[in-house]
Amino acid sequence: MTGVDAASAPWWREAVIYQVYVRSFADADGDGVGDLAGIRSRLPYVRALGVDAVWLTPFYPSPQADAGYDVSEYRDVAPIFGTLDDFDGLVRDAHGLGLRVIVDLVPNHTSAEHPWFRAALAASAGSPERARYIFRDGRGSGGDTPPNDWGSNFGGGAWTRVTEPDGVPGQWYLHLFAPEQPDLDWTNEEVRAEFELILRFWLERGVDGFRVDVAHGLAKDPEMPDLAGNWAVSGPALEGHPHWDRDEVHDVYRGWRRVSDSYPGERTFVAEAWVQSPKRLALYLRPDELHTAFTFNFLLASWDAASLRSAVDESMAALAGVGAPATWVLSNHDVARHVTRYGDGQLGTRRARAAALLMFALPGGAYVYQGEELGLPEVTELPDGARQDPTFFRTGGAELGRDGCRVPIPWSGSEPPFGFGPSAASWLPQPREWAELTVERQASDPGSMLTLYRNALSLRRRLPALGDGQLAWVEAGQDLLAFSREPGFLCIVNLADRPADVAKELLPTGAGVVLASGPIDADGRIPGATAVWFARD
Ligand code: NOJ
Repeated sequence: MTGVDAASAPWWREAVIYQVYVRSFADADGDGVGDLAGIRSRLPYVRALGVDAVWLTPFYPSPQADAGYDVSEYRDVAPIFGTLDDFDGLVRDAHGLGLRVIVDLVPNHTSAEHPWFRAALAASAGSPERARYIFRDGRGSGGDTPPNDWGSNFGGGAWTRVTEPDGVPGQWYLHLFAPEQPDLDWTNEEVRAEFELILRFWLERGVDGFRVDVAHGLAKDPEMPDLAGNWAVSGPALEGHPHWDRDEVHDVYRGWRRVSDSYPGERTFVAEAWVQSPKRLALYLRPDELHTAFTFNFLLASWDAASLRSAVDESMAALAGVGAPATWVLSNHDVARHVTRYGDGQLGTRRARAAALLMFALPGGAYVYQGEELGLPEVTELPDGARQDPTFFRTGGAELGRDGCRVPIPWSGSEPPFGFGPSAASWLPQPREWAELTVERQASDPGSMLTLYRNALSLRRRLPALGDGQLAWVEAGQDLLAFSREPGFLCIVNLADRPADVAKELLPTGAGVVLASGPIDADGRIPGATAVWFARD
């Protein structure tokens, strides 16, 4: 390990964290929606997978206009997910199993049902209640044109006009997401103070960290200029964007870091920040700001050696500049599952197996999105009537949205809901073919995705070369991505679909194959779409 003292490296520099999408993991009460009690009952499964922590997506009271990313009360648990007692029990059990717990913090917007927003609607223009959000007068003589041309990430405009308490059409409020998610004004001291208290509330309940939703969105250009085609509504933000990745956000994170540092234990933040470049991402991870951030360029890279290698190099170089580790991720609840992105079917699955070994061998930390360890594909055939993602509705069905990666987990049995819960209900229907992909089926199958993940994560814990540290690229040939790590480890990924020869001299002395994502030929060639770990074990 170079530059980092293994014995004292904080846990989050090399943690593997399992993303639990709460509504789709395990349903204890049979209402078809996953809950905290369900998660609690499945913690031994998570532990056995070999991860270090879980990240729970929002479980707070919410009208569920955006699957819980519309929070109406930040210090409680929604009845559909359980109670604060359930949460405390979950944290206790997780800690007892050696798993840390990260919760989701949604600071860019509240729910429109949040008491603050209700109060803002009841108050008048220019009031302190409205000042917590972003209310503006409309343009045009009647004020009936939105204040500017900003768009919602989910389609349509980013402004909604309110009816004033006296019944006349009035001001507009900003929502970069759904109208049910009004943006907060982060120049407002009350907003800042409130979120520091929210952090403290959960830190005192024992959480080990926070995933920061839309970390790149909190600051808006006070001039509110039109995008005017100069900037995109969503996606990585170009410099000078009026509402993404503005420099003013960093002051917020410095404040949060002071809060988290005032608690014992190594509490941590992970930023969801869709920014233009790893260099911009690194700014969030300066020593007095957040600890980690998803390196989404890896998720976005296409399946070829050059683009994966440059995603890794650019992230590592930029983050090293601020002393931060990289945090790799292949899937989450907002993107199509990577088995499908990589080509679907057998090919997509083989590539996903190889990608997992690549990811777990890279220096830094990694996130696993529930179900990727089962090789779940994106569900593309959901009936329209079952869909719930606001993207689907706000684009009039032009974009299917994200429901296809949020389908409840198949645990056991041969019929839906495959052990997801005690009743037949599941909030999104599961494909019948998932009978082949249940945890129960895969647990005893040496060739399954689940077994591969378990083996990889157990080796990752055991091999001193893996986790935090450095890598050295090895030139192994076209379509091959190869790197070594000290002591005595080499990862080779064959990105091509045909087998590749690997020169014996490349292998570390005395090293043998410790894990491969697919069967390796007796002649030592690496089959297409396959990754191999060599180590002295
Ligand atoms: C990012 C979350 O991951 C996504 O699910 C949500 O819709 C948006 N932020 C808005 O909160």
